Amino acid sequence: MSVMSEPLTGTSLPADHPLATTDPARSTVRSPLVTAFRGGTPSRTPVWFMRQAGRSLPEYREVREGIGMLESCLRPELASEITLQPVRRHDVDAAIFFSDIVVPLRLAGVDVDIVPGTGPVLGQAVRTAADVAALPELTDESLEPIREAVRLTVAELGSTPLIGFAGAPFTVAAYMVEGGPSRDHLGPRTMMHADPETWNALATWAANTAGAFLRAQIEAGASAGQLFDSWAGSLSLDDYQQYVQPHSARAFSHVRDLVDGSGQPVPLVHFGTGTSEILPAMRDAGASVMGVDYRLPLGEAHRRLGATPGPDGRGTVPLQGNIDPALLSAPWEVLEAHVREVVEAGRVAPGHVVNLGHGVPPTTDPTVLTRIVDLIHSIQP
Ligand code: CP3
Repeated sequence: MSVMSEPLTGTSLPADHPLATTDPARSTVRSPLVTAFRGGTPSRTPVWFMRQAGRSLPEYREVREGIGMLESCLRPELASEITLQPVRRHDVDAAIFFSDIVVPLRLAGVDVDIVPGTGPVLGQAVRTAADVAALPELTDESLEPIREAVRLTVAELGSTPLIGFAGAPFTVAAYMVEGGPSRDHLGPRTMMHADPETWNALATWAANTAGAFLRAQIEAGASAGQLFDSWAGSLSLDDYQQYVQPHSARAFSHVRDLVDGSGQPVPLVHFGTGTSEILPAMRDAGASVMGVDYRLPLGEAHRRLGATPGPDGRGTVPLQGNIDPALLSAPWEVLEAHVREVVEAGRVAPGHVVNLGHGVPPTTDPTVLTRIVDLIHSIQP
């Protein structure tokens, strides 16, 4: 079932937004990233890395010294500085906003923290209808530190786009039901069958919270949005379609009306890990670009997405991915061959943005990332 309904009457982004401005020094419309996300041929092959802002960078560890993760996200100057660090260092084609999928929960007033080496942990797990009913609503005013951090960041980025993001309802609800990280996400997967009403109420809350968080970033200056459903790969296709896809579609629906200066929608990426079996269903939740993890070759992802080849033999869904993070610490020759293979495989899609098949491991030598960016930029799009 496709839950996309085309076309909506657009809501124009502000005239000074990077996707709407006529100032060439600030416009991101012709950037390699936005061009590839829209299925065009970019001036150079675009690349960015999930978790590029973070522990692999000594300059990150330095500015974070003694400051908690969520506190760093809520200090606009600091969040902006950390967002910019990998762009300065690696010359990547996009910044990803430094924040976390649980930041909007904290802003709403949920008792959540990020424990180093563990991940998001809640003061109290959310398991019953009463727990869900008691969840606080995210207010528009509370998103101000996010808008401020985005404004500071895009003022520095010039024509390099900022990507905004949010956690998809299943992944966020998985942390909420378990009260913290888990391997198999049994809690939320049991809840959707045992108590679908409570599950749907929780996932609706998570979808609206994620949607508002993402919309704040895009309105304040982000040129694309990515919905992270990191743990959706633990779901069967049936469960995904019945209990998750409608909620992810709701999250996307918060931003689908936003259009740039020429009426084009803002590119929306959907990514998860282990999603080989549910990739088309994730696309149908309302994404215009699909992120692919390292398990599935891009050619196969393209085939599964069922893109009908156009006259030039290319399909219709731009792809993002999928260098295997494990190879970042392999000998350069091995890594280089893999990166070249990924770039070649991506040519089957109408647009390809190179990325990792999941985030940068904290132990990664950052000079290797810079070298990969140089290599990718040396290959003709
Ligand atoms: O560079 C970037 O990608 C931007 C920032 C970003 C962070 N988290 C910063 C962060 C993004 C996009 C996220 C999203 C996120 N957060 C996801 C989806 C992406 C994915 O990796 O699958 C998930 C599942 C989370 C939840 C979360 N937050 C986890 C599992 C962890 C790791 C815990 C640990 O310490 O190993 C975090 C913490 C976190 N989020 C860090 C960063 C830089 C590390 C905190 C630190 O530096 O102390």
